[in-house]
Amino acid sequence: MKILAVVGARPNMMKMAPLLEEMRRYPDLEPVLVHTGQHYDRRMSQLFFEELGMPEPAYNLGVGSGTHAVQTAQAMQALEPVFIQERPDLVLVVGDVNSTLAASLVAAKLGIRVAHVEAGLRSFDRSMPEEINRIVTDAIADDLFVTERSGLENLRREGVAEEKIHFVGNVMIDTLRRHTERALALGMPAQLGVRPGEYAVVTLHRPACVDVPEVLAGVVGVLAELQRRLPILFPVHPRTRARLQEAGLAATLAAAPGLRLLEPLGYLEFLGLMADARLVLTDSGGIQEETTALGVPCITLRENTERPATIDEGTNVLAGLDPARIRTAVLAALANRHDGRGRVPELWDGRAAERIVAILRRTGASGPRHG
Ligand code: UD1
Repeated sequence: MKILAVVGARPNMMKMAPLLEEMRRYPDLEPVLVHTGQHYDRRMSQLFFEELGMPEPAYNLGVGSGTHAVQTAQAMQALEPVFIQERPDLVLVVGDVNSTLAASLVAAKLGIRVAHVEAGLRSFDRSMPEEINRIVTDAIADDLFVTERSGLENLRREGVAEEKIHFVGNVMIDTLRRHTERALALGMPAQLGVRPGEYAVVTLHRPACVDVPEVLAGVVGVLAELQRRLPILFPVHPRTRARLQEAGLAATLAAAPGLRLLEPLGYLEFLGLMADARLVLTDSGGIQEETTALGVPCITLRENTERPATIDEGTNVLAGLDPARIRTAVLAALANRHDGRGRVPELWDGRAAERIVAILRRTGASGPRHG
């Protein structure tokens, strides 16, 4: 069974790594890794392959950046001849980035089975590009692998046939469990001159936050206050670095020496920092899950989340983008000493890839969708 595994952007890498490793254990499976090249800087791409022990992709399609239509269309154009030439039995996609959508569309139209890992998540906010990617991918996928119970409910409500849906847990947490010890051994806090448990970590990259100068200025203003109480380490996504400049926030940042802007970090470096943080503030989807798995308090700078288990069960709090609400959430989090509160959601046990590959080996035998 030939499986084309498609990645494109940074958050795809840690989801695909355990799946590739698991597939390679079975001689009847032939995984072929394809990188669209949506992310291309070494620190957004190659570094993750190296740290996670992923093989070099068989194809790197060099799609790069662009508007949503341009990026998705270029990924589709580049993927189609690869799928035609390789004639896979299955295309495997993860997450919700533009490359996920592009690969699913191309495969579905060629009559190739599509398996989507991290299916069913819904923020119910269609202004998020990822929400559109998730809805369309799930509508055309044949096997839908779900990380949390809300995903099951969403897919059932959307009328997806029960036999396509598999509740398997979270592959990103497989990767986290596998690498936490190595990540902690790097001693990242010491390297950056902070003490374990006595610093905050921040990430921001979502258009709703960084592309609106007043919103970005409001968030940076709260961080400038917080850095007086706690050092803040802020690895900056390339998009965000550009927006900070454009929004004229250089002076605010210069006046806040406790708020340290870093280059984007590798997987291990970032995991090492997150695991020992007093607090994480983020607009990322994946980091909400990783902090829940680590038992580290997380304040999410968004109005909604497609990962409600991190709130209902884990350590996540939604604070939105209003500075007053963020400030209140930060003070509340600092008032409760971190005690590992919250529980880890069902099946986030490091064995999701095993379950997924077992199911693929069964369902793969049913052959291409359209005969
Ligand atoms: C993408 C995903 C988002 C994910 C994020 C993680 C979509 C719609 N969005 O957002 O879901 O959370 O990745 O990082 O797929 N850039 C570089 N170097 C790179 C990559 C990007 O400088 O290697 C800059 C470019 O200016 C580019 C911008 O970042 O225009 C945005 O990149 P893009 O891939 O379009 O989206 P992300 O914001 O990274």
